Amino acid sequence: MPEEKKNDAVVCDGLVKIFKTEDVEVMALQGLDLRIGKGELVAIIGKSGSGKSTLLNMIGGLDRPTAGRIYVDGQDLFAMNEAQLVSYRRSTVGFVWQNSAQNLFPYLTALQNVEAPLYFTGTSEKARKEKAMELLELTGISHRASSYPGQLSGGEQQRVAIAVSLALDPKILLADEPTGSVDSKTSDMIQDLFRKLNTELGLTIIIVTHDISLANKVSRVIMVSDGKISTEKIMKESYMKKLDELSTENLKEMDSHEEYSVLDKARRVQLSEDALKEAGIDSHMVKVEVKDGKIIISK
Ligand SMILES: Nc1ncnc2c1ncn2[C@@H]1O[C@H](COP(=O)(O)OP(=O)(O)OP(=O)(O)O)[C@@H](O)[C@H]1O
Ligand SMILES: [Mg+2]
Repeated sequence: MPEEKKNDAVVCDGLVKIFKTEDVEVMALQGLDLRIGKGELVAIIGKSGSGKSTLLNMIGGLDRPTAGRIYVDGQDLFAMNEAQLVSYRRSTVGFVWQNSAQNLFPYLTALQNVEAPLYFTGTSEKARKEKAMELLELTGISHRASSYPGQLSGGEQQRVAIAVSLALDPKILLADEPTGSVDSKTSDMIQDLFRKLNTELGLTIIIVTHDISLANKVSRVIMVSDGKISTEKIMKESYMKKLDELSTENLKEMDSHEEYSVLDKARRVQLSEDALKEAGIDSHMVKVEVKDGKIIISK
């Protein structure tokens, strides 16, 4: 494996995923390239059906790409057999889903839920309990350790779910719409928790979200359209410094990020429909000129 791929948390090279059902073929990922550095906190946004969950599932080793390569924490997922993938899923990634019920066993207490992944690792009962309690403290829900999921609110369940996802010390946390079914106040709390895990543990975190307030708070926002990455927004440094002082309301009003179009390996750029409309471009051909060191695209 090339040396530089070992130093990134995630590298996707030309990922293609085709879903075949009886009568249709859907190309959910269309040659997607992506690099995420160790310790980054990244949001992935995009319209429904653009391929966000498909991408996350590939990174998590839950599904295999039709073509292309994925390297996570220096491991080549493409080269793994099923048994290796199972062990990869256990040791390298942690998952948090939108629906916290999907994350938790209803008949186990919060503490037992966090302990559950540790049952298979040969950890002693005492060490299991200690570790689980530590994680519940980290996620701010240790006072409900003996409650069952059904006795907890959606946000509280999500805190337990995040603790569960951390039980086996993953290198990367993957979250698909983690604030999708909670109110905005709870969403703020969960967002803050992700930021804390990122800064305090140095954990790499990838969050798929529709939640604009969440996207506003992370340093890098990746936009997926039609199975490819079209634009990236990078948070301005001046803004990053103020982040902790600002309330969510102020955050929404501020111009937080700088937007960049992504140039793929074949030097292609995807232009947004809005940009084309604004420029009055409606044909399938454009003129490209270089003027004063700038590239101008016009009708
Ligand atoms: N198992 C599957 N079988 C067939 N088609 C699928 C399957 N999973 C996803 N797709 C299709 O692939 C495309 C991308 O789906 P994906 O779930 O990745 O979108 P998404 O960006 O996560 O959308 P949403 O925001 O609605 O969750 C969609 O057209 C979807 O219908
Ligand atoms: Mg999805």
